[in-house]
Amino acid sequence: METVRVVLLGFGTVGSGVYDSILHTHQEKLEKVIGKKVEIVGILVKTEKERQLPGDVVVTTNIDEILSLPSIDYVFEAIVGIEPAYSYIKLFLDRGCHCISANKELLANRGEELSEYALERGKFLTFEAAVAGGIPLLRTIIQLLQVNGILVLEGILNGTSNYILSKMRNEKLSFEECLQEAQQLGYAEANPESDISGRDAFYKQMILSSLIYHDQPDWEKVERIGVEQVALEDLVLGEGHGLRLKLLASLRRENEGIQATVKPTFVSSEHPLYNVEGVDNGIVIKTDLVGTLMLQGPGAGSKATASAMIEDLVQIEQQKEPLQKVHRYSYQAQNEKENQQSIYLALFPLQTKEEWLSLKAVINENLNQVNILQEVVKEIDGSIFGSFLYEGALESISLPVLYKRYPVSPIGLKRGISNVVTS
Ligand code: HSE
Repeated sequence: METVRVVLLGFGTVGSGVYDSILHTHQEKLEKVIGKKVEIVGILVKTEKERQLPGDVVVTTNIDEILSLPSIDYVFEAIVGIEPAYSYIKLFLDRGCHCISANKELLANRGEELSEYALERGKFLTFEAAVAGGIPLLRTIIQLLQVNGILVLEGILNGTSNYILSKMRNEKLSFEECLQEAQQLGYAEANPESDISGRDAFYKQMILSSLIYHDQPDWEKVERIGVEQVALEDLVLGEGHGLRLKLLASLRRENEGIQATVKPTFVSSEHPLYNVEGVDNGIVIKTDLVGTLMLQGPGAGSKATASAMIEDLVQIEQQKEPLQKVHRYSYQAQNEKENQQSIYLALFPLQTKEEWLSLKAVINENLNQVNILQEVVKEIDGSIFGSFLYEGALESISLPVLYKRYPVSPIGLKRGISNVVTS
């Protein structure tokens, strides 16, 4: 049987997951599907330590030792950050290897350039694992939606944040406890700041923007808010309104250019992403032909990433020639304007329930500024909180209490209701 020779750059959650799937859990299936034996011949590690690896695999911290291995067919790149990954990928492409990457920061920054570089050399650079973990999202866009014009893409693109928000809400745990679990489960980045600040979702969104529009918005103009300020009471109050908080990334093209935002947003039970819970990611794609599609699945973790990377290898084996850059249809999201956010949930810490009444009295004097849709007052862990769903300009009213505010997706929201739930 013919053999393909593989090296791994990086041996953290991603690299070790690929290793296990290729050599253990899915070896037989993989070989049957591609009709070749897959051998891992070298692994670039960050630090030397005791590892249970076979003696014939070169395990080293020195890239030159990996580069000097003969006849490498595939490089699985799972390093963090732009350099040295960028230089390594170019070196391996120069040597005639196909590259399969999971490096979001690199691909958001230099993906288009590296894709050109690979194409010029007739080699593949694929990166399904870099966006939405195990969900076959990129290939769906690249290969299966070529005539469909993409109008809007909205999604949950960070597994760690979704895991934290779901777990906090379901188990009434603190942000820190849930983040720690996400780290232990191998969902979070080595530096989880990237997950909780929305930066990881932003990189994925920029990769999608390059694929859909062959362009990206000005990074400075993208509103990016993470989940690090979310408190348990925000989620409990949201639940009182029938809403769940999700870190939503939205991408669309308007007159002014490509518009992208990443921010915690409440969604109602009618919203397609409401039931995307835990480490799952979910992506809603609206197109002008098929209509609305939704993809959902594990967005992080060793197996999810390994699945995406190994399926990339299979695809390359079967496809043989890389696809040339194709014209992609995308349209201005003109009819989407009315769907843009103008509804918010405002959350107030209160000393007493009476304070809520005086707050409401101030708002009632300014009903030309805001329209209250629904309100909830709740005691959570011995403290009282009030919240209301509103549309309008609350910020133009001077209120005696500091409050937090989140956008609410208007999709499926039952408007015009106004009730008080007290518990
Ligand atoms: N830390 C990332 C996440 C891993 O939580 O989504 C997958 O890209």
